[in-house]
Amino acid sequence: MTSQPTSTPGLDPTVTPQQWWEVTAPPADLAARCAALIEHTGTLGIEELETLVQQLAADPTIWEPMVIVDADRRRYRLLYEDDRIDVWVLSWMPGQGTGFHDHDVSGVGFACAAGEVIEKQMLLPSGATTVTLGAGDSRQGAPGYIHSVAHLDGAPAVTIHAYSPPLERVGQYHVDGDGILRRAVEHGRQELLDVSIAAIDPERA
Ligand SMILES: [Fe+2]
Repeated sequence: MTSQPTSTPGLDPTVTPQQWWEVTAPPADLAARCAALIEHTGTLGIEELETLVQQLAADPTIWEPMVIVDADRRRYRLLYEDDRIDVWVLSWMPGQGTGFHDHDVSGVGFACAAGEVIEKQMLLPSGATTVTLGAGDSRQGAPGYIHSVAHLDGAPAVTIHAYSPPLERVGQYHVDGDGILRRAVEHGRQELLDVSIAAIDPERA
């Protein structure tokens, strides 16, 4: 079933609102252009992932159509996926960010395409490193890499993330009531699942 975009109160009317179930339905022409940049036949290394997202971030004709402005939630759209890799375009508005997490067995490369984001890594016992990424800046992380990312500037800031193998599991970190660090494993698309459920059945959200 093809859904029709609907207007969302409070959003810039020039921006096409996206339904959550459209998140994993990339435009075929954009997906094909991304696929054309991927030459590797197996799992990509983090250098290859970072090179890919740099190439994508440098071409606004690929990522601009994927941008979503939503002041309520960090939004992401799938640009491309196959059995080697998945590639996402994320749109960040002020106040939006992730907690500390890892990508389980997936390597990651991500690049900032517009605005600015800040990346942190845990610096034990109680601090964090900080790296600011502006347009054209990029990072890479091997499997097990733990970080958080948050909006810093731009409305929205836009980042492009590539994972290989595809992101099936994410480890989310939190400190429990006794001060002990815990890792909870989530599906790599848990946020999408949560919001999809909320749209279908608000009482389960
Ligand atoms: Fe991440």
